[in-house]
Amino acid sequence: MTKVNKTSNWVRRHSEDTFVKRSKQDKYRSRAAYKLKAIDEKYNFLKKVISVADLGCAPGSWLQVLKEFKNINFIVGIDLLNVEPIDGVYIAEQDIKDYDSYTQLFEKKDSKLDLVLSDIAPNITGISDIDQSNFSYIAIDILRFCRFKLKPNGMLVMKYFLGSSFETTRKTLNNNFSKINVFKPASSKKKSNEVYLICIGFKD
Ligand SMILES: C[S@@+](CC[C@H](N)C(=O)[O-])C[C@H]1O[C@@H](n2cnc3c(N)ncnc32)[C@H](O)[C@@H]1O
Repeated sequence: MTKVNKTSNWVRRHSEDTFVKRSKQDKYRSRAAYKLKAIDEKYNFLKKVISVADLGCAPGSWLQVLKEFKNINFIVGIDLLNVEPIDGVYIAEQDIKDYDSYTQLFEKKDSKLDLVLSDIAPNITGISDIDQSNFSYIAIDILRFCRFKLKPNGMLVMKYFLGSSFETTRKTLNNNFSKINVFKPASSKKKSNEVYLICIGFKD
């Protein structure tokens, strides 16, 4: 199959995808909104938190979902890419590793956060060893962010891709949280290795 055919097949499959259709009707910026909604339906945490950071937030559908919860009064979104502004959300175009910028980003919020979300997906090379190392490096960066800004007993929801580095990453997270659950939302494509790690009870 030629590259053009492969691309047009992907475009057709994507536009026929139920969650893509729903996201257009519901005015979400991407189908990822339904992943966060499904995680929340299962673990029921968004109505219990007040302050949240969303790492890898572009184009911003998780931020839109967070805005629907009136109990949440502080939302920060961070992404390498530019994100169209959302009223009342602090958005920073930066790498999550760019720790120097955080002081400025959080100057309006001295205390720590209740929840850290990460839907970050590093670029996939297709070479399993390299991809798995990249996922584990990102997990370490996310954990560093938690040490910097997550409250003791706070919660982290993080995307991960099952593979050779998964157990090591889960062990590292286990040392830092009281409980780790693994969840795959219905809107996460079946053939993808993507799962979400629901990490409860941060040990500061
Ligand atoms: C799947 S998208 C997130 C979708 C988002 N949850 C939504 O609902 O719209 C993953 C994002 O992670 C971002 N990303 C990847 N590595 C990053 C890093 N080191 N720092 C900040 N953002 C990163 C990418 O730019 C991409 O926009």
